[in-house]
Amino acid sequence: MRTPVIAGNWKMNKGPKEAAELIEELKPLVQDARATVVVCVPAVDFSAAREALAGSQIKLGAQNVHYMPSGAFTGELSAGMLKEAGVEYVIIGHSERRQYFGETDETVNLRVKAAVEAGLVPIICVGEKKEQREAGYTNALVTYQTLIALSGLTAQQVGQVIIAYEPVWAIGTGLTATDEQANETIGVIRQAVRAAYGQQAADQVRIQYGGSMNPKNVRGLMAQSEIDGGLIGGASLKAADFAQVVHFE
Ligand code: 13P
Repeated sequence: MRTPVIAGNWKMNKGPKEAAELIEELKPLVQDARATVVVCVPAVDFSAAREALAGSQIKLGAQNVHYMPSGAFTGELSAGMLKEAGVEYVIIGHSERRQYFGETDETVNLRVKAAVEAGLVPIICVGEKKEQREAGYTNALVTYQTLIALSGLTAQQVGQVIIAYEPVWAIGTGLTATDEQANETIGVIRQAVRAAYGQQAADQVRIQYGGSMNPKNVRGLMAQSEIDGGLIGGASLKAADFAQVVHFE
């Protein structure tokens, strides 16, 4: 009942020329996909990417957004600017932004609200570090991260967002959560949404898995009842690999 969503997070890879080339290569490979397909590209690529994406079903995404509409915030981009540039989705609170750029649950929440108000679909990242999993904090942590991130949204708005469960220890490491671990933790996130926003929001909200997802492990992960898609790093930089993830069925 939920349409799966497969999103590529290109991170700090590929300038405008390579972005256009990758999208041109990808387009024919995913044109009949059942899943929603998104590419979250570096901001300097928006224009080239939008041109290359014309006439395709692939959606354009960004990797961050500031929470203020304008002003003295050197180097930042507002939700309105992203919207005007043709962006429809935006990753918020990626663990790399939390780790290297001081992102907190509170600023994640401000960004989520700004994105939703501007009509962007946020892809909100949550997930535990290795030592937090080992200490048994995973469920409490992802519940807390999720509830803070969504705070102030209506149940209807919550039903439209995307959440990405990305265990930090699985990102770029080649380690993947087992199908059962990913399904269980995503179930915990959905239960948090249910408790706070009701059954309908919990049934609608799409929750992805992210962390070393690739053509080999996508089928097992996507066969799990709670997993509605993937946020793909490394494997999204090669058209053939990303297309195989998109066609997981
Ligand atoms: P990898 O797929 O490279 O592990 O990256 C996952 C990720 O961080 C997606 O946002």
